[in-house]
Amino acid sequence: MHIEITCYEDVPQSLRDDIDKRAVELDWGDTYGVTEWAGGDWQVTVWEGETWTSMLLLVKRAIMVDGQPLLVGGIGSVMTVPEWRGRGHASAAMRAASTFIRDQLKAPFGLLICGSHRVHLYQSVGWQVVPGPLSFSQPSGKRTFPDDTIIMVYPCTDQRWPGGPIDLCGPPW
Ligand SMILES: CC(C)(COP(=O)(O)OP(=O)(O)OC[C@H]1O[C@@H](n2cnc3c(N)ncnc32)[C@H](O)[C@@H]1OP(=O)(O)O)[C@@H](O)C(=O)NCCC(=O)NCCS
Repeated sequence: MHIEITCYEDVPQSLRDDIDKRAVELDWGDTYGVTEWAGGDWQVTVWEGETWTSMLLLVKRAIMVDGQPLLVGGIGSVMTVPEWRGRGHASAAMRAASTFIRDQLKAPFGLLICGSHRVHLYQSVGWQVVPGPLSFSQPSGKRTFPDDTIIMVYPCTDQRWPGGPIDLCGPPW
């Protein structure tokens, strides 16, 4: 297995098309009624030889937490093709992404949202659940995720998560 982190604009169209094709087969669960998602700035791709097995998108975003600006690395669209699941490929992509957020973005935190059934996966690679509420922008205006949305952060340093309302200052990822 090897892992690539690529600027999204440099991801070959053939790979994007293949990922899109596989993504429609996946059960993404609740998409929270969001109509506009943020595009990725980078793509983390896991390969077995010539075959991609797992991927995620990474976004660099200045958000607000409790009214204060905070740089985060956002993780979204985590997926492993069904035949490669349960072998640690998504976990490996998450570890690579978390290291990139710390060392390349120099952001103090990673941030993602997920359903409750995914908490264990992300906790096992160092992510922690934090309280909301979490608001974001849509073409229709400002929206807030439902109370049961799980928000998780990856602390890159020993800085404590500030707590308080989170504003993604743009569409979610
Ligand atoms: C969620 C998803 C990305 C996980 O991908 P994956 O590559 O199977 O993930 P991993 O193999 O790293 O981890 C999956 C489980 O296998 C376990 N595992 C990891 N390595 C393993 C190994 N070598 N052998 C056996 N089990 C292993 C993990 O502990 C994890 O268990 P958990 O779910 O109880 O935490 C995949 O199921 C998927 O694409 N689902 C549909 C899309 C989706 O829901 N994405 C998440 C949005 S938040």
